[in-house]
Amino acid sequence: MTDENFTTNNAGIPVESDEHSLTVGPDGPILLQDHYLLEKMAQFNRERVPERQPHAKGAGAFGTFEVTADVSAYTKADLFQPGRKTELLARFSTVAGERGSPDTWRDPRGFAIKFYTSHGNYDMVGNNTPVFFMRDPMKFQDFIRSQKRRADTNMRDNDMQWDYWTLAPESAHQVTWLMGDRGIPSSWRHMDGFSSHTYMWVNATGEKFWVRYHFKTDQGIGFLLQEEADRLAGVDGDFHTRDLHDAIARQDFPSWTLKMQVMPFEEAKTYRFNPFDLTKSISQKDYPLIEVGKMTLNRNPADFHTEIEQAAFEPNNMVPGIGPSPDKMLLGRLFSYADAHRYRIGTNYNELPVNSPHAAQLRSYSKDGNMRHHNPGDPVYAPNSKGGPSADTERYGEPAGWQSDGGMVRAAATLHAEDDDYGQPGTLIREVLDDAARERLVNNIVGHLLNGVSEQVLRQAFDYWHKIDRGVGDRVEAGVRSQQK
Ligand code: HEM
Repeated sequence: MTDENFTTNNAGIPVESDEHSLTVGPDGPILLQDHYLLEKMAQFNRERVPERQPHAKGAGAFGTFEVTADVSAYTKADLFQPGRKTELLARFSTVAGERGSPDTWRDPRGFAIKFYTSHGNYDMVGNNTPVFFMRDPMKFQDFIRSQKRRADTNMRDNDMQWDYWTLAPESAHQVTWLMGDRGIPSSWRHMDGFSSHTYMWVNATGEKFWVRYHFKTDQGIGFLLQEEADRLAGVDGDFHTRDLHDAIARQDFPSWTLKMQVMPFEEAKTYRFNPFDLTKSISQKDYPLIEVGKMTLNRNPADFHTEIEQAAFEPNNMVPGIGPSPDKMLLGRLFSYADAHRYRIGTNYNELPVNSPHAAQLRSYSKDGNMRHHNPGDPVYAPNSKGGPSADTERYGEPAGWQSDGGMVRAAATLHAEDDDYGQPGTLIREVLDDAARERLVNNIVGHLLNGVSEQVLRQAFDYWHKIDRGVGDRVEAGVRSQQK
């Protein structure tokens, strides 16, 4: 190695020029043997990987999670044991917009964390809202399409969005969050993160609990008014990306305190809301928050493409001590993400440094495939008598699961005593929001409905809001009718 600094091609061969193609005479035709020119053009044509289907626009940073309390009574997961400090990657995003879309569009925000634990990577892929738009994965694709662009005009369309929402009453809780202040956070540093789903925790003696994660921002909640968000969308589409980057660059490291709701296993059956329905919150009066630790982001990525664009979060990455619940949405997600990564990044996406385990040793039998740069070597099959790895079923053989039976059906999950789609959003409006927040909610809904929504869908929307809260329904209808041209 020398301290020389001349350009080479991708094979490390010195190139003849950074500026001039190889031609026959200064004005002559370009020669096919100018491989460097061909390499530049070909590489350029392949620079983009497909963007994420939802959550395409986002950014992230690295940091640590430090346990500050003792929750070993609830989980044996190594990363949550007292005193542990675990390296992590967090990515924040909008849902519906494309890679270049403005950060300040009204949308839920993704809140994805990859913990590099000593038992392999654990991914907690949540949002900045505690609930979601539906409770069956069969409806996710239709919902996302209604938020994206029309097939004919390639434009986003509020008529399509409201048509979908109002025909799916279980969306009411999430739409109330979305149309309120939480729909446009002032920055990613000023929003909370939630698992939304209920997961299972298992302790060292095999006792099981149902849990929900709440990452509470230590910066305080902040939001943007619609007008300010619209202005920023014009002048700085990367407003949230910039805010996070600049805060970390000036060493003003953002942090979140992780608190859990923990429900004893047997209580799920009789709880007043179905805890496996992610359109519902679990009341904090019934299951108060229990502190676990602190997440701090302290390092900006140095290479956006390899560290963020190709980061692959997948809810199926669960480590010993953590498992899924019977939430059908969660079970659907356990398939979808790894499938998306294989398509978007490639078969061996887990070989990329950002996705590979950092604190655990890889001993997998996975082999070959496109762009593989390292194989574990022989033996390539199990069982074998050649000293290859073998599963430790004594230590890791007990699945974090639950009992289930019944005939095969396509049916909604059993209703619990207080399950109805309009109840919790109504309570949110009446008991959590103050007068000013309610006023902003009504204004946001009215503004959204006045933007291209047909008469039929307007009537559906008035009916929807009347069912959530009569007062808000009246004000929305009056607001729209008085401003219609
Ligand atoms: C991204 C599917 C529900 C949070 C994605 C991606 C897919 C997907 C395919 C793109 C993955 C990629 O290319 O990297 C689904 C399906 C769902 C569902 C099928 C329901 C059945 C949810 C829910 C949440 C959520 C309920 C939050 C609680 C996220 C986040 C990302 C994402 C945060 C971006 C991850 C990142 O930063 O790379 N989803 N999703 N999704 N989803 Fe979901």
